[in-house]
Amino acid sequence: MPYRTIIEPFRIHSVQEIAFPSEPERVAALERVGYNLFGLHADEVIIDLLTDSGTGSMSADQWAAMMVGDESYAGSRSFYRFADAVTGLTGLPEVIPVHQGRAAEWILFSVVAGPGSVVPNNTHFDTTRANVEYQGAEARDLVIAEGRDPAFDHPFKGNMDLDALERTIAEVGAHNIPVVMVTVTNNSGGGQPVSLENLRGIRDICDRHAIPFFMDAARFAENSWFIKLREPGQSERTPRQIAEEMFSLVDGVTFSAKKDGIANIGGFLAMRDPEVAAKCRNLLILTEGFPTYGGLAGRDLEAIAVGLAEVLDEGYLRYRIRSTEYLGEKCRDGGVPIVWPPGGHAIYIDAKALLPHVPASQYPAQSLAIELYRDGGVRGVEIGSVMFGVPHDDGTETPAAMELVRLAVPRRTYTQSHIDYVAEVVLSVAERAPSLGGYRMTEQAPWLRHFTARFAPV
Ligand code: F0G
Repeated sequence: MPYRTIIEPFRIHSVQEIAFPSEPERVAALERVGYNLFGLHADEVIIDLLTDSGTGSMSADQWAAMMVGDESYAGSRSFYRFADAVTGLTGLPEVIPVHQGRAAEWILFSVVAGPGSVVPNNTHFDTTRANVEYQGAEARDLVIAEGRDPAFDHPFKGNMDLDALERTIAEVGAHNIPVVMVTVTNNSGGGQPVSLENLRGIRDICDRHAIPFFMDAARFAENSWFIKLREPGQSERTPRQIAEEMFSLVDGVTFSAKKDGIANIGGFLAMRDPEVAAKCRNLLILTEGFPTYGGLAGRDLEAIAVGLAEVLDEGYLRYRIRSTEYLGEKCRDGGVPIVWPPGGHAIYIDAKALLPHVPASQYPAQSLAIELYRDGGVRGVEIGSVMFGVPHDDGTETPAAMELVRLAVPRRTYTQSHIDYVAEVVLSVAERAPSLGGYRMTEQAPWLRHFTARFAPV
């Protein structure tokens, strides 16, 4: 087949204006928000790569489905359409809608975890870790060693270290592990996929020790595309077949529909065990709403039901993964160190490698994220010691394993020229990296501090 550019597989149907704040306006905005990019108004941002969560564009079919949303409090038609879509895809019979992924996490860990328990994961996402720790339990990251080395090329850097999982079970006892989790793709570890072989290995270990196995499936479709591309014997299967096999290997899932649901809000908790599900529904009623809407409007349930099918379209996934890779290649070809290979939803710049003169205690990835905004109005997010550093009483901190800036690409939202612009900004900032300084934190909250912390240049 002759070479062809992989084009966006959609036409633009309605548009939103982008604001172009001047550089002095961006500098003033940074000072106002204490150098925390979460504090910016969206109108102060030119290209917003803060997250791919809830920021995607819905299709005409999704908008059309929203118009027929059934807003009945109990037993809405939209709920049954949603539940059928979820069970049809995952094979999990108990479907509990929630307003977003972390609500599923809070409910699940409230029911199964407590002081003394340990939850293994390849890498906990920040809200997952916080929800485990909030229950007094320990969140333990067991990703393979290759997954902690940004430059190491490996097809499945999100895989869990199965020996480490066995060792953890031997050390703490299976009865203290309420659930083994795996996050696909591994967001906090560079958006890297997990292989079917690894999922089967985890299943096997969980079976031998009678431990339930749950998947944080936020980016399940992107994970299945990587399996199709990279796992021996999988290239002829459809993304849906691969996704169905992934789900067949687990006892339950937490799901944020704001990613591979291509919805602006929503999520679910789904599982096989009806007794655990009943306990979860009791908490759901307390905090989210009645079990047939779980904090969502009927129209949101409709959008998710349609999104779950669209996200597995091969043309969509080919474009999606290629467009992220395109940004990754531009960075790499310009000499910018990034987590390699590129993740599914984001590329992750290795700030430890780019700013070796800034120690972890002065948050090199935060410094880089600030400069990308100051220089080009591009908003990314720090995934390093601001997010995952552990502060101690004496004022010192245990740094995170990696210091990354994530540039997350919203689904179906930006075009190739937007991405070309982002690459120009990254390369121009990288050229000046030796002149960038560190930051200190002047204010922080007791958990999930990265959302609200304030900083000052050192
Ligand atoms: N799990 C993963 C792997 C996630 O990436 C997220 C959210 C959640 C759970 C929580 O879901 O936001 O719906 O409550 N990630 C977003 C991000 C916020 O920017 O990566 P939520």
